[in-house]
Formats: sequence, structure tokens, C-alpha cells
Amino acid sequence: MEAKSRPDDLVTAADKGSEEIILKMLNRHFPDHGILAEESGKLGDQTSKYTWAIDPIDGTTNFAHNYPLFAVSIGLLIDGIPQVGVVYNPALDQLFRAARGLGATCNRVPMQVSKTQELSRSMLVTGFAYDRRETKDNNYAEFCHLTHLTQGVRRSGSASVDLASVACGSLDGYWERGLSPWDVAAGIIILEEAGGKITAYDRSPLVLSSGRILATNGLIHDQLSEALLTTPPLSSWDQ
Ligand code: IPD
Ligand code: CA
Ligand code: CA
Repeated sequence: MEAKSRPDDLVTAADKGSEEIILKMLNRHFPDHGILAEESGKLGDQTSKYTWAIDPIDGTTNFAHNYPLFAVSIGLLIDGIPQVGVVYNPALDQLFRAARGLGATCNRVPMQVSKTQELSRSMLVTGFAYDRRETKDNNYAEFCHLTHLTQGVRRSGSASVDLASVACGSLDGYWERGLSPWDVAAGIIILEEAGGKITAYDRSPLVLSSGRILATNGLIHDQLSEALLTTPPLSSWDQ
């Protein structure tokens, strides 16, 4: 198994094999479209209005440790906006799908976000990017703060599974920084079609290239945004 940007940023033969199969299919069916694939980078016609964002295994660390939270994530962006998405977790045999205006399903059963209205009754999920040891903006302070304010914060290790989990109502909200478009393109449309809300941390419209995302059932969105914007520094935990 190789490491990429850092010793804990892994790539397995399965990441490469999965991406190869997906690229072959897309090239066969949509040779004129653009592609943004985690392991191969930009391919195809980058001026096309259609771009496929591919994460061949989202949750590679989990996969490498045999922990069953990982997924293949494929999203179609049209003019930069996610319109079609599929997230498949083979270990749990869960297939999440959505297309703009057509709703979202898990294993063909329509799904909806949770009805939790209060942050204090919510369960959330987040993640920590591979640069976490090199930046103070590493989400540790936010994780502590939200752990105090909610019934719990999980760290699943797969952004696409996180978005799908909010979409199906198992979790109420998700935030993370340091993400790439392939991590979230599919999950965004799946969550939106399940009735969820996705913005930047400050509730302004999401900018995919910012790498920051705030995704909830809609009902706790303002409360979670406020909590993220007012997170005290980690040093305040010493007192
Ligand atoms: C990672 C996962 C993880 C998130 C990281 C991502 P990878 O993707 O989605 O949950 O916290 O920021 O890079 O490397 O397993 O494809
Ligand atoms: Ca990923
Ligand atoms: Ca990956």
C-alpha cells in the first residue's frame, strides 16, 4: 500500500482498480464529458458543461483497516453544480442515489432527512483532513465545542457516507473543512434531494472549491452554523 501527500494519506490497489473501471465506463458512454478523478486528476474535455467527480474509494483509511465505512462516490456536475449522485458502500451493501428533482433513495427506498429541531438533541458527524497536524485550522476546537452542545459527534472517515447518513436521517448534521469536490459532489445532491440543506459555515451559498461544507437536515442549520462561527479556541479548555 502506498502513501500519497502524507504517511496516513493512503492509496490501495483497490482505489486504482475502482477508478479504472469507472473511467472505462464513463469514457465509453460519455466521451465528450470532463472528469475530475481523485487518483487520475483532470481528464477529458475540461470545457464541457458536464464534469464527473469521482472518488473511487472514499474512506480509504477505513478500507485499509477493514472498517466497513467506505464508499464509491460518483457525482455529475452540470455547470459546476451537482445534479446526479451515487454513493455505494459495498461492505454494508447500501446504494444511495439521487438526481435533481427526482428525490433520493437508499437501496431504491425513498429517504428523508431527520426531523430533529434542536442542536442539543442532535447527533452530528465531522472529519479531519490529512493536513490536520500542519494547521491550527484543523477542526479540533469545533469538534470539542460541538461534542459539548449535542448528543454526540461521530467521525466516520468517509465524507460521502457522512452526507448519505444525514440524507437518510441516521445523523442530523455534518460539517468539515479540507474537502475536495470528489469527496462531496455525489453526497451533496443526495442530501439536497432528501430535503437537507447545504451551505458554507456562515450559511452563505456553498463554494465547492472552498473545501468547507455545512450540511444538515435544515432544521438545525442555523444553530450549527452559529455554533461553528462562535467556537472558542482550544486554549479555553485548559481552564
Ligand atoms: C477522506 C474521507 C474522510 C475525510 C477526508 C477525506 P479519502 O477521503 O472522506 O472522511 O475526513 O478529508 O480526504 O482520502 O478516504 O478518499
Ligand atoms: Ca475522499
Ligand atoms: Ca479516495
